Amino acid sequence: MSFDYQRTNIYELYADLHLIDKSKNKYGVLSMIQLNYPELYKTASYINGKWLNVDKTFPVYNPYDGNEIAQVADCDAEDAKAAIRAADEAFKVWSNYSASKRSRILKKWYQLQIQHAKDLAQLLTTEQGKPITEAVGEIRYGASFVEWFAEEARRVYGDVIPGHGSDKRITVIKQPVGVVGAITPWNFPSAMITRKVAPALAAGCTVVIKPSELTPLSALALAQLAEEAGFPAGVLNIVTSQNPQAIGEELTSNRKVKKISFTGSTRVGKLLLRQSADQVKKVSLELGGNAPFIVFDDADIDAAVDGCIASKFRNAGQTCICTNRIFVQKSVYNEFIEKLSPKIKALKLGNGLEQGVQVGPMINENALLKDERLIADATSKGASIVIGGSRKEGLFFEPTLICDLNPDMDIFREEIFGPLAAVYTFDTEEEVIQLANNTNYGLAAYFYGRDYARVWRIAEALEYGMVGINTGMISTAVAPFGGVKESGFGREGSHYGINDYLNIKYMCWGGVK
Ligand code: SIN
Repeated sequence: MSFDYQRTNIYELYADLHLIDKSKNKYGVLSMIQLNYPELYKTASYINGKWLNVDKTFPVYNPYDGNEIAQVADCDAEDAKAAIRAADEAFKVWSNYSASKRSRILKKWYQLQIQHAKDLAQLLTTEQGKPITEAVGEIRYGASFVEWFAEEARRVYGDVIPGHGSDKRITVIKQPVGVVGAITPWNFPSAMITRKVAPALAAGCTVVIKPSELTPLSALALAQLAEEAGFPAGVLNIVTSQNPQAIGEELTSNRKVKKISFTGSTRVGKLLLRQSADQVKKVSLELGGNAPFIVFDDADIDAAVDGCIASKFRNAGQTCICTNRIFVQKSVYNEFIEKLSPKIKALKLGNGLEQGVQVGPMINENALLKDERLIADATSKGASIVIGGSRKEGLFFEPTLICDLNPDMDIFREEIFGPLAAVYTFDTEEEVIQLANNTNYGLAAYFYGRDYARVWRIAEALEYGMVGINTGMISTAVAPFGGVKESGFGREGSHYGINDYLNIKYMCWGGVK
């Protein structure tokens, strides 16, 4: 459906056209979001199969123009408690469904996400800012976890182990851990939910999700589709709140919650880990990164440049696996910079909803301040800006190329989370391995080269959970995503991903004579 609309009254227009039921969108305000299926625009929390309007609300803004796009239910710890209670009750039912029944409902959820991919992407870009093509990519990527784990639900196999005595038999079964608290970030408002929730539900767990307060609309749209897919009440709950601390404290202190899964900053991850320690809860953490991107002298430089652009500027540099430090061997440095520079200059900034835009706005003012701080620190210590280097109107930051860097600069140590390509040089393999591993982070690393033996050596020597070899794009539902060191632990995706939501129990059978 398409019709003329004025930015400021599209919500009223939808309502007039009966495309939005105002009673279900008590807080729906000035939405600029044109959806083919307006039911996806939800602003109430979703608890125990009901859309819950609470007294307080908080605003959600479009980072492109700062316009308010929704007023969303501002839940408190009591609401989180109610969601946990509902999830605990629902666990008794859901965990007893056959694996194939759970699988069928997950499959349906997947199909609905694909069917509504365009609308989900519109919502996502409007609240998060990323280009619409990336948003469509995220929706498909997110849905692929649901499809994958719908299949894995049927493959939660046990084991039979030869017993330790002639009358002994040992069997091993895997059981769902129980209620899961999933705390998800703003940079992937949809895919980081499905990547946690799909394996949890496939395993037989139930979930309470706290989406980022910056991007709750994508989460609520997923809940709408989950309801349509047929999940029983209480299996999937969404608690929206602008007070993540209060919800996090309830999730980590409530004994009914058996596991916490978090994607976000290392600082908050450590806090949740400490809070979970009291009850020795199971925890999975996908935290910050400081990805090296190494270019050796025998690399295909054109391919390396393309891989660098893809992994550096995806989501305006706001992903945990974005290239953070580019190390180029001295003999190919000039060629690499000559080929990289025009590609950075050509990147088109703008409204993510416009076709052709490649770099959207940053999420908020703090993100811009961080980039400015990192640049100021680096230039004060001798770095040179080759391209860009400044913020633009609104929340935009110019795609930037910064060179002449060294490990004494903040930009070497910190996760940039912005569109700054930071280039270093190196001479030898030993030197670059030392540089690449000289960080507390250990999420993703990339390198380009062709020497077969060196490729193996480097891949093994990098202290990272994921290594891209001659590619800058490593994200897929079929591989285990996760880090080492202060980038966290646990794996998401692949056949490993469901293990984080299962307890292993062994049974020792005696007296078998
Ligand atoms: C992240 O930034 O945390 C996720 C990136 C991805 O899944 O590709």
